[in-house]
Amino acid sequence: MSIRKIITFPSEILEQPCKPVHAFDKKLGKVLNDMYETMIEFDGVGLAAPQIGLDLQIAIVDIEDESGTIEMINPKIIETSGEQTGPEGCLSFPELYGEVTRPNYVKFEALDRKGKKYVKEVEGFLARAVHHEIDHLNGILFTSKVTRYMKEEELEGVEE
Ligand code: CO
Repeated sequence: MSIRKIITFPSEILEQPCKPVHAFDKKLGKVLNDMYETMIEFDGVGLAAPQIGLDLQIAIVDIEDESGTIEMINPKIIETSGEQTGPEGCLSFPELYGEVTRPNYVKFEALDRKGKKYVKEVEGFLARAVHHEIDHLNGILFTSKVTRYMKEEELEGVEE
């Protein structure tokens, strides 16, 4: 595995929809392993492929709960409900935090690294992280949803 360079804003690749993955091969496994290592290195709870310069619909989320690492390839949101408002950050925007409203429940389908389809329901902070990463794959950045930027002293314990 290796740690990849994080692409920070502004960069064209962060603001365009990514292409679907068609090859479920060793190379994809390596990308996912590298993304995991990179996310851990930079203390994130999620990472999308465009953030390491890849124009592909690949994202991972790991909020260190019992769900473990969620690998999402070509994900599609099936259903959302509820609302949650809270602080959010992004590895592509170092030291920038803001309040974002997202659904409190997200049901999505995606493929795993072997190309097998699964459906998953997530809630609360995990739903926030999944929604944030799927947004990345559609070229949508959290800054387009921030209703209020936050000062550092308001941010005790906020994860990116
Ligand atoms: Co992000």
